Amino acid sequence: MGLTFLGIESSCDDSAAAVVRDDRSILASVVAGQAALHADFGGVVPEIAARAHAEKLDLCVEEALAQAGLRLSDVDGIAVTAGPGLIGGVLSGVMLAKGLAAGSGLPLVGVNHLAGHALTPRLTDGIPFPYLMLLVSGGHCQFLRVEGPADFTRLGGTIDDAPGEAFDKVAKLLGLPQPGGPAVEAAARAGDPRRFALPRPLLDRPGCDLSFSGLKTAVLRQRDALVAAQGGLHEQDRADLCAGFQAAVAEVLAEKTRRALALAPAPVLAVAGGVAANESLRAALQRVAAEAGATFLAPPLRLCTDNAAMIAWAGIEAYQAGRRDGMELAARPRWPLDQGAAPMLGAGKRGAKA
Ligand code: KG4
Ligand code: ZN
Repeated sequence: MGLTFLGIESSCDDSAAAVVRDDRSILASVVAGQAALHADFGGVVPEIAARAHAEKLDLCVEEALAQAGLRLSDVDGIAVTAGPGLIGGVLSGVMLAKGLAAGSGLPLVGVNHLAGHALTPRLTDGIPFPYLMLLVSGGHCQFLRVEGPADFTRLGGTIDDAPGEAFDKVAKLLGLPQPGGPAVEAAARAGDPRRFALPRPLLDRPGCDLSFSGLKTAVLRQRDALVAAQGGLHEQDRADLCAGFQAAVAEVLAEKTRRALALAPAPVLAVAGGVAANESLRAALQRVAAEAGATFLAPPLRLCTDNAAMIAWAGIEAYQAGRRDGMELAARPRWPLDQGAAPMLGAGKRGAKA
């Protein structure tokens, strides 16, 4: 008999529950977003997020089990995101999972949210270890060499903002809607990426670390200069600024990926995170992978962005490796995947980047 796990995710602004089997089938994956609750605030408000998780999470679990056609007693274990993330949300999930485990007697496995993202290509495509993972979302940005279910080497990451955060801030300062990524990408289609000279942060330094905060500030300066000179922004200015910003992000990520693949060659380059939806970034990464003789893998978007199927899957992999957690399982705001790597700087609006 195979294993079936319930997964629970609540580390940022999505309440999610899923039921996944060890043969890689996803029996249910329910995601209840909170975008509307945070829309007026220009970012995720941790207290609002935590309260919404506490209200919605058990309903997500019920719905996931119903969609899978199972009762709780039919699953073999419960996996829950135990960090890193906004602590109120992580606590909501961990408390719920502990309650369900205590009530049912099922085994409990605490999962690192980043491990969930990093192991997703094994759920979607069944690829073997090792591979290189580029995680690019609103809260995370790092290169990981994935060598086992609990064996991650961080080759580099952002020293300030995550790229999605930069897309969101650029959208905001240009008067475009949130989430900023899709809005900036749409505006960029009509833009000239060469009109404005924007920096390529950290390209002059060796290694795979990245920085996006200066790039966002450079867009702000160009905007202010235009507003001072002509009293406002024309549609074309907006498009050109978006195109220039997007090209800079794609170029920097592509070059750092080239370096990561040179540093730690791998047969597969995989991406995860909401920013992986960006078509010019995907095209740039595809070229880099081809140059290095690696296969480029981008899981379907609903499994690239935050979801609980990845948590259930990471829970299965950890359980198969012998991991079990008890009632002492702690919710952790910070939890670096690579314990040996130096701590990252900064904690953005979407919580600790670990
Ligand atoms: O992974 P995700 O859904 O949530 C977390 O951050 O955990 O990622 C959301 C981020 C947002 O910042 C959003 O603006 C960005 O991904 N994003 C994009 C695109 N679609 C979403 N960024 C660039 N281009 C896109 N097409
Ligand atoms: Zn995430």
